Amino acid sequence: MTIRRAVVTGTGSALPRTRVSNADLAARVDTSDEWIVERTGIRFRHIAEADETTSTLATAAARTALAAAGRVPADIDLIVLATATPDQTFPASATLVQAALGIDDCVAFDVAAVCSGFLYALQVADSMIRASAATRALVIGSETFSRILDWEDRATCVLFGDGAGAIVLEADEGDGTRGVLATRLHADGRHNQLLYVDGGPSTTGTVGKLRMKGREVFRHAVTNLAAVMSEALDAAGMAADRVDWVVPHQANARILDATARKLGLAPEKVVVTVDQHANTSAASVPLALDAAIRDGRIRPGHLIVLEAMGGGFTWGASVVQL
Ligand code: UT7
Repeated sequence: MTIRRAVVTGTGSALPRTRVSNADLAARVDTSDEWIVERTGIRFRHIAEADETTSTLATAAARTALAAAGRVPADIDLIVLATATPDQTFPASATLVQAALGIDDCVAFDVAAVCSGFLYALQVADSMIRASAATRALVIGSETFSRILDWEDRATCVLFGDGAGAIVLEADEGDGTRGVLATRLHADGRHNQLLYVDGGPSTTGTVGKLRMKGREVFRHAVTNLAAVMSEALDAAGMAADRVDWVVPHQANARILDATARKLGLAPEKVVVTVDQHANTSAASVPLALDAAIRDGRIRPGHLIVLEAMGGGFTWGASVVQL
């Protein structure tokens, strides 16, 4: 008997042209390279120029992922784009990507789950593929958080960056050992005032700025991420020692270390890009995945765990056999 699963056949990413160092930021707000590196592990972030938007970055990442998968845009019948910073309130940025890629007809929509958005998008695309509602999907995380940062608030503006990551996810009828093996998602709206944007179309009529109680978010992140990773591994029938790589949401190097320690995973198995990209919200997991595939760390046959946590709170983990 064959099992229909969604397998990852290609990855891609895109970063804005301009790279900003901690020293550059220290010239703008009362901070220092030393504080940022010690508290977060962040050294650089990329910041979008006026002509770089969530959809242009997403389109560039999608093109690279399609090339890696050996596919052309016309092969795609589903685009799920995770973002909290769409080009416009509507239409969905996924349809802007669709148009830019020249795809005449497909299903295209955005998913809003902030930093966990890519995990949510992956679960949606995986479910649609397994239900035969789609065959070949682009799953994208893309953000321009620089547009919603309060550049006077040193406690938040040093933490985030812009970028996009994408994967091609394809239906595969086989023995069921490859592909997305299990995903687990959660949300707890009681905490929606710990990390939020203070504006929106239906309240202020403005875009708003990001606000965060960092220390409280940190505390929840480690507990929730370790728990959901265990849950997803259990659902996949995999022990933690089978994992080749963890590809975490890149919010803070200390969260990555603490979460790995809680699960008994060696830090060498954790992909870290937060030093180069900072926190790119929904883009961070696919950006890190693409970086580790392109530099040869993650290879075909590896068992990987993707995980993320963000505003809402929302959080999730996915176990994928490449
Ligand atoms: O993507 C969604 C998930 N987001 C996260 O996971 C973020 C989680 N939180 C964090 O990563 C950390 O809490 C932060 C990096 C945001 C902050 O680190 P912290 O160790 O929790 O520092 P803190 O907020 O408690 O601030 C400590 C001190 C404060 O000064 P006082 O009150 O002790 O005098 C801050 O005012 O550091 C000060 N501070 C800064 N100093 C220099 C805050 N931001 C800065 C800054 N530069 N940029």
